[in-house]
Amino acid sequence: MADYKIGVIPGDGIGQEVTAHARKVLDVAGVRFGVSFEFREGMAGGTAYDAAGDPFPSETQELCADSDACLFGAVGGPQWDALPREKRPEAAILGLRQKFGLFANLRPAAMFEPLVDASTLKAEAVRGLDLLVVREGVGGIYFGEPRITEQVNPDEERAVDTMVYSTSEIRRIVRVGFEMASVRRKKLLSVDKENVLETSRLWRRVAGEVARDFPDIEVSHMYVDNAAMQLIRDPLQFDVIVTGNMFGDILSDAASMLTGSIGMLASANLNEAGFGVFEPVHGTAPDIAGQDKANPIAAIMSAAMLCRYALKRAGMADAIEAAVSKALDGGLRTPDIHTNGTTLVGCAAMGERVAELVGG
Ligand code: IPM
Ligand code: MG
Repeated sequence: MADYKIGVIPGDGIGQEVTAHARKVLDVAGVRFGVSFEFREGMAGGTAYDAAGDPFPSETQELCADSDACLFGAVGGPQWDALPREKRPEAAILGLRQKFGLFANLRPAAMFEPLVDASTLKAEAVRGLDLLVVREGVGGIYFGEPRITEQVNPDEERAVDTMVYSTSEIRRIVRVGFEMASVRRKKLLSVDKENVLETSRLWRRVAGEVARDFPDIEVSHMYVDNAAMQLIRDPLQFDVIVTGNMFGDILSDAASMLTGSIGMLASANLNEAGFGVFEPVHGTAPDIAGQDKANPIAAIMSAAMLCRYALKRAGMADAIEAAVSKALDGGLRTPDIHTNGTTLVGCAAMGERVAELVGG
C-alpha cells in the first residue's frame, strides 16, 4: 500500500496541463525521499458538467474524502458562464472548500530573484518580497444567506448577497495568521473595512482579542482599500496579511502579480483536521489552454505546499521549491515570465526540467 493517497482534480483549461506536471514532480520527489503515492483522478468544473451534468460530482467528493490530500487545477470557462450558479464550474472549488471546511486559505507571494525584472513594478520595489495572504475560505459574502435575485416589479430585479462573520469564524482564521507570523518575520496585518462594515467591526475587535495570546507578534490593522494601494506602493512592508474571503480573493490576485506572474502563485486550503486541497491561484486561461503555453510553476509550488502542510514533509517541499528556483536560475521561462536574454519554453519543458531537478 502506498504511503499517501492523493486525489488529483485537474479541472478545466490549463488546469489539465499544469496539474499533470505537479503530479509528476510529486512522484519524483517521492522516489527521492522514499515516499510512495497512489494518485487517483477525479473530474470537476465545466469538464465534469459536460460529462456528468454536475461540476462537483459525488464520485469526486468521495475521492477527496478518501484522500490524504488533493491537488486541484482550476475550473471555469466562458462556455459555462451562463449556467445557474450551482452548475457553474466554480461550484466545484467553492463546494470543496465548504464540504471539507477548508477555512484557511494560504496564499504566499515570494519573489524569485531571477524574476525581479518580470514584475510590472520596479525591481527595487519587489526584490526580496516574501508575504503570505491568509484568506478565510468558507464564510463571508461567498456563503452568507440570503443570496437571491428577485423580481421586484416587471421592470426591476433586485439581487442580495450577505456578508456574515461570527466570532468563532474570525478567531480561528486570525489565529492561523498569528501562527504563520510566529514562524516568519513576526508581523501580522489584519485587513478589514471597519469604517463601513459591521462584519469588519467585529473582525477588528476579535483580531485584537486574539492578539493578546501572541505578545511577540507586531500586529496592525488596515482598511482593504488602503491595503490594495500599499501592496502596489510598498509591498516589502508586509509579512502575513490575514483577511476575509472576498478581500483575500482580491488582495491575493494583486499580490500575485508583484512576483511577475499569477502563474507563479500556489495556495493551500486547509481544514481544522489538517486535510488540504492545494491549487494554483490562477484560473483556467482558456485563451492559452492546450497550447503548451501555461506556466506549471504555480501548480508545482502547490505540490510543495501539499508536502509541507498536509504531509508535514518539509524536506520534500524544500526540494521542490529549490528545483523551481534552479530552473529559473538556469534561464528557463514560460511566456508569462519571459524577458530579454532568457530562454522561452513551454509548459511541458518547464515541468520536465523541474521534475528532473527534483530527482537530484
Ligand atoms: C480563487 C478563485 C475562486 C474564488 C473562484 C474561481 C470561485 O478566484 O480561488 O481565488 O473566488 O475563491
Ligand atoms: Mg481569486
